[in-house]
Parts: sequence; structure tokens; C-alpha cells
Amino acid sequence: MVHPKLQSAMPQEPRAASKDTSSRSPKRTARRKPKGKAKLTAATADRHQLYTDAVQNVEGEIDFVDQTFAELRGRKATTLREDFCGTAQTSAEWVRRRESNVAVGVDLDDPTLQWGRDHVLSLLTNEQRERVTLLMRDVRDPGREGRNVDIVLAMNFSYNALMARADMLEYFKSVRKSLAPGGLFIMDCYGGYESLMEQDERRACKGFTYVWDQVRYNPIDATLDTAIHFEFKDGTEMRNAFTYHWRLWTIAELRDILAEAGFAKTTAYWEGDDGEGGRDGEFKPATEADADASWIAYIVNEAD
Ligand SMILES: C[S@@+](CC[C@H](N)C(=O)[O-])C[C@H]1O[C@@H](n2cnc3c(N)ncnc32)[C@H](O)[C@@H]1O
Repeated sequence: MVHPKLQSAMPQEPRAASKDTSSRSPKRTARRKPKGKAKLTAATADRHQLYTDAVQNVEGEIDFVDQTFAELRGRKATTLREDFCGTAQTSAEWVRRRESNVAVGVDLDDPTLQWGRDHVLSLLTNEQRERVTLLMRDVRDPGREGRNVDIVLAMNFSYNALMARADMLEYFKSVRKSLAPGGLFIMDCYGGYESLMEQDERRACKGFTYVWDQVRYNPIDATLDTAIHFEFKDGTEMRNAFTYHWRLWTIAELRDILAEAGFAKTTAYWEGDDGEGGRDGEFKPATEADADASWIAYIVNEAD
């Protein structure tokens, strides 16, 4: 399965298909590194850059978020909080979109945030950078600067790190309190029977191979151990560049907890078919779906 996060993969790779939104994201190519660089090896490559290139599609993600907010609220959102922001690629994309946009990224890991400052926010203009705030905090306690936002995002499935129901409930309650009137909480999720299989999957990227390794799934408590490895053309490899210990929550479980946290409405957005056995990259509200081998979906949550 391909990383749920669109074409590529993030930590995971549910059905590959569709999230390749490259055709509608001109910025994606605009920000690519110049060609002609030295060949990548395990010794020279930067794991955050490899992850960015292999897994992330923040343009496609923000396309969905921006459009969904406008459809549901009849206006454009301005303030966005990116939970589990890592290197803050999504926050950077948000402030690039419109001059009025403001982003707050929240993550526990200071070195990862610093990489984002050095390699992601540094590519913004000064004016854009001033509209991004990074907070080294637990997402359940974002502080004053993380409140009163139009949108809270929990993408790339990172909330699966909260494995106890009580912790997830605490997080969802905190998110709900953080939303401005009319605000939305948008999360992605993935599943399908391939997501429970102990297997790895390789995908060729420019200059390296991305490996999504589903190391172990425990059906008793639904915990999943996964890893990302990178392989290079010179035969070297970067094993366990990223590892994750998650509980693989289902949409139904998440919606139950969201309702308990007080969200007035939770809607699953399922991806459409392209008519040729693949996916079309368009996510629409759904209450029923096929039992696909692997899938990604969004859950859009309205606080009021
Ligand atoms: C898979 S990375 C996601 C990075 C980025 N959001 C992306 O889309 O690729 C998960 C991130 O979640 C952060 N994290 C895990 N638990 C957290 C928590 N309770 N509060 C804040 N950040 C957390 C980790 O430090 C890590 O940077």
C-alpha cells in the first residue's frame, strides 16, 4: 500500500492512487531543488529532505482544506493551526496561499522544528515568515497562540500516536476549544486490509527509493509499528530513518470520540474513482464506501 498521503507516502501507503495532485499544483515543481546535484547516498542525504520529497504533498492537502472550508462556511479561512507539524511544510504552504493567511505549527520535537525553520521557513519571504509561528508544545496544550483559529489540521495520521482513548478524547476536546466560531478540525486517516499486513513496499523517487515498512501489527490492541527506510543507487541505505508506534484508529472509532468531545458534526470524505480502477483525487462526503485494500480519507469536523 502506498503512503496514505497521496501519491507517495508518508508513513504509510494505503492505496497509491490518487493523491497525486501534481498536475494541479504548479508550486510543487516551482520549489524543487535545482538539478545537477551530487548523487544521494546514505552518508550525504538529509532524512527530512527525503521525507519531504517522498511523502509530502502539502499543496494538494491545502487545496482540499481551503476548498472544503469555503464550501462549508461561504468564506475563505484565514487562521490555520497545523498540529504535529514536523517541519511545518503545511504552515509554509498556507501563508504562501494568501497575504491574509496566518499559520501556527505545533510539535513536540525541537530539532524537527528547527529543521523546518532552517530549510522550509527560510525559503519564505520575510513577510510570509512573519505570519508563521512555531510552538514546541504538546498538541493537547497549544497555549494561547494556538487558539481561536479557523482550522486545525491533524494530517499524515500523526494523531495515531495518541493510543489511549482518554488521550485522544483530551486532544479532541482541546481542539474544539481552540476553534473560532465556524471553525473546522480536519484530519486524514487511512485503512484497508493491506494496512494491517506485515509487509514493506518500495517506491522509486528521484535519486532514491522510499521504503514503507509495516513491521508489526498487533490485532489485540491495534498497535502498528512502522518504519521508513531510504535506499540509494550506490547500494547504501538509511534504515529506520523514521519509526512510528501507533494505534491504527478506525474512522468509526474516531467519530465516536469526536462526538463525545462535543463536535456537532463529523463527516467522512471519501475519494472518488477515476473510472479506470484508480482514484481521482477528489474527496466527497460519504456514508458508505467499498472495502478497498487500502484507502485514505479525510474527516471534517464542525465544532458548532
Ligand atoms: C509523522 S510526523 C508528521 C510530520 C508532518 N505533519 C507531516 O505531515 O509529515 C509526526 C510528528 O508528530 C509529532 N508529535 C507526536 N506526538 C505529538 C504530540 N503529542 N504533540 C505534538 N507533536 C507530537 C512528532 O514530534 C513528529 O514531528
